[in-house]
Amino acid sequence: KILILDFGSQVTQLIARRVRDSGVFSEVFPYDVSDEFVRNYGAAGVILSGSHNSTLDGDSPRAPQAVFELGVPVLGICYGMQTMAAQLGGKVENGLVREFGYAEVRARSHTKLLNGIADFVTDEGHGMLKVWMSHGDKVLEMPPGFKLMGNTPSCPIAAMADEERQFYGVQFHPEVTHTVQGKAMIGRFVHEICGCKSDWNMPDYISEAVEKIRAQVGTDDVILGLSGGVDSSVAAALIHRAIGDQLTCVFVDHGLLRLDEGKMVMDMFAKNLGVKVIRVDAEEQFMGHLAGVTDPEQKRKIIGREFVEVFQVESGKLVNAKWLAQGTIYPDVIESAGKGKKGQTIKSHHNVGGLPDTMKLKLLEPLRELFKDEVRKLGVALGLPHDMVYRHPFPGPGLGVRILGEVKKDYADLLRRADAIFIEELRNTPYEPVVVPGFDQDSVPTNWYEATSQAFAVFLPVKSVGVMGDGRTYEYVVALRAVQTQDFMTAHWAHLPHSLLGKVSNRIINEVRGINRVVYDISGKPPATIEWE
Ligand code: XMP
Repeated sequence: KILILDFGSQVTQLIARRVRDSGVFSEVFPYDVSDEFVRNYGAAGVILSGSHNSTLDGDSPRAPQAVFELGVPVLGICYGMQTMAAQLGGKVENGLVREFGYAEVRARSHTKLLNGIADFVTDEGHGMLKVWMSHGDKVLEMPPGFKLMGNTPSCPIAAMADEERQFYGVQFHPEVTHTVQGKAMIGRFVHEICGCKSDWNMPDYISEAVEKIRAQVGTDDVILGLSGGVDSSVAAALIHRAIGDQLTCVFVDHGLLRLDEGKMVMDMFAKNLGVKVIRVDAEEQFMGHLAGVTDPEQKRKIIGREFVEVFQVESGKLVNAKWLAQGTIYPDVIESAGKGKKGQTIKSHHNVGGLPDTMKLKLLEPLRELFKDEVRKLGVALGLPHDMVYRHPFPGPGLGVRILGEVKKDYADLLRRADAIFIEELRNTPYEPVVVPGFDQDSVPTNWYEATSQAFAVFLPVKSVGVMGDGRTYEYVVALRAVQTQDFMTAHWAHLPHSLLGKVSNRIINEVRGINRVVYDISGKPPATIEWE
């Protein structure tokens, strides 16, 4: 396995994903782990990530010295290369020009890392790499033992190698898809330089995970809060595969779910997979507590609190349960381990299934090691339907944050139907992909649902005048929202075809009595957020 030390770059997680894509397990830890941790980890190789820091600042982060004493290969990326240079006796300087974006690096292919890897060859016979650069500082002098592995006109030492010790440094980012040969370089590093075998694949993972869950829980019973979302669903399918009837799922319908969600969840889990699912119909309870409440944060708090309440009552009936299973995934784990990254709370996100520790249950988190795309592959491998596993994310408070102001059942019913029409049309409208060279072509979207990251309807409790047939109408407004994003921290509004928007608008107004106007949200995040509340 490969140890990745994170110096805080935005794209560190991508390094781990690329390594895993080449069939090798890897994990991310903060750069300030101890020397002892590094020595005991058992890494076949270490990768040092990029960072927004400068090695020239006195207190900037350094890799644990043990990294360079382990006797295993080390790859430094961007800041990782600079700190490698600084720690091993080279020199880094403050670049006058910052370099961002596309660059062409002349590759010195006599090194093990780049041998035979190039995008094109110049007239003079130099192998060239098309890469993504993002840096301010650069290495001025290589440490003793290193030789030049790549350069650009503005960055004379863009890559360096000490092949005896197997230390490699690249100023560009091989983990992003814009670096065309990035995958090949990472594959080369983990397989040929570190000597790792490809043993990270789904079928093996399932049998290992099943064994692990069995060993962990023994004959105890396990409960799991099933939300219908991808993570809890895949966790349920995996745990059920391992321990069958020792697992009981609790599915709380708070009345703020999408159209037919309850039926879908029950069909899929109870009927098809034979999982024990307790369905709690708590719509009235939630609506009762939400009556008269208009403040978004207040609404979130009430929904979160009631959810825990209902879940506790139901799971309290399962007296033999000793474990609480959760669909925590790897990015959640990395995020909560990361330091100093906490931003201001814009919205108090709550995850369905978050429970107070008074329940005295042990935590079972079988997806803790997996990235989202791996969770999806696992779901498919476990027999969950593709469409379900590749669904857009849905917030814990559900339609509660998509009905502006006070939540009422009537509003939720109208919104559910409008939303279902929007989603159906997105799925039915083919998407003509723009093929950008250098981008991952693994998952080219085929329809507009796949081409957007999240799409939904929002209920606006304002009435406007319309005309239908010969009559005047005075009814509610629905807003459509569709965004494209990598990380949900920033997002663009999706440029949906006008014909698609037109069709959705017609259908909603004709089929959902009570709505006579549909608008499309063209705000980016920031300054808007994805949800309206
Ligand atoms: P915003 O609206 O903050 O949304 O731009 C970013 C992502 O987070 C989801 N979201 C939530 N998820 N509980 C959740 O579980 C919440 O309270 C919540 N609020 C927003 C939102 O759907 C989007 O994917």
